[in-house]
Amino acid sequence: MELCIALDLPSAEENLALAESLKNYNVWMKVGFRAYIRDGKPFIEALKAINPDFKIFLDLKLYDIPNTMADAAEEIAKLGVDMFNIHASAGAVAMKTVMDRLSTYENRPLVLAVTALTSFDEENFQAIYEKSIDEKAEQFAKMSYENGLDGVVCSSFESRAIKNATAETFLTLCPGIRPFGEDAGDQQRVATLEVAAKEGVDYPVIGRPIYKDADPQSKVAEILKVMATL
Ligand code: C5P
Repeated sequence: MELCIALDLPSAEENLALAESLKNYNVWMKVGFRAYIRDGKPFIEALKAINPDFKIFLDLKLYDIPNTMADAAEEIAKLGVDMFNIHASAGAVAMKTVMDRLSTYENRPLVLAVTALTSFDEENFQAIYEKSIDEKAEQFAKMSYENGLDGVVCSSFESRAIKNATAETFLTLCPGIRPFGEDAGDQQRVATLEVAAKEGVDYPVIGRPIYKDADPQSKVAEILKVMATL
């Protein structure tokens, strides 16, 4: 497992101060819509300047026509980030077009697909996709695997079934982790680090339990220590 920290603080200054306090750890940093729309490419560069070994996950969830997605994927590859994601519901042609376009990049970023957004309940999910969340997440994962993506964003509780339906090496990145059973906040179902490890999660994504802690640096140290034993 490799720890991925969500940089969800309200300003670039606060996110960079958090990154600065964690500069001795080789962890993943998740940059989402808010930070990227506001702070853009200079923010990515500032993170790399703090620690060139930070891995960057650009969480922009691309969803458009295949050619437009491939154009965007290429721009993302040029940014030098290490991972980004698309929506699986953009479909097989979009997935294949994106992966074909990135194939000329020697160190292309990893590409993950979002299966089901965890904010959906069954009723609202079925109103759009006409299948249960579990069923559709597995179908989207298979489609992603068959079209050459590296993995999916899913719940920890779907990770094992997705790996069984695809391959053990097919990556799962999972939000909704509360390392030691901390407050769930708005997350519906949360997993501890132990559960995540048991379910085969490759990248646990953790935000609030780290950045809301009085001492994020010690918290990360504690998380990494436990992860090393799992
Ligand atoms: O603070 P917390 O640990 O709940 O943060 C989880 C991060 O993962 C947030 O950046 C949130 O937007 C993101 N995320 C999520 N559920 C998804 C996709 C992304 O919680 N399905």
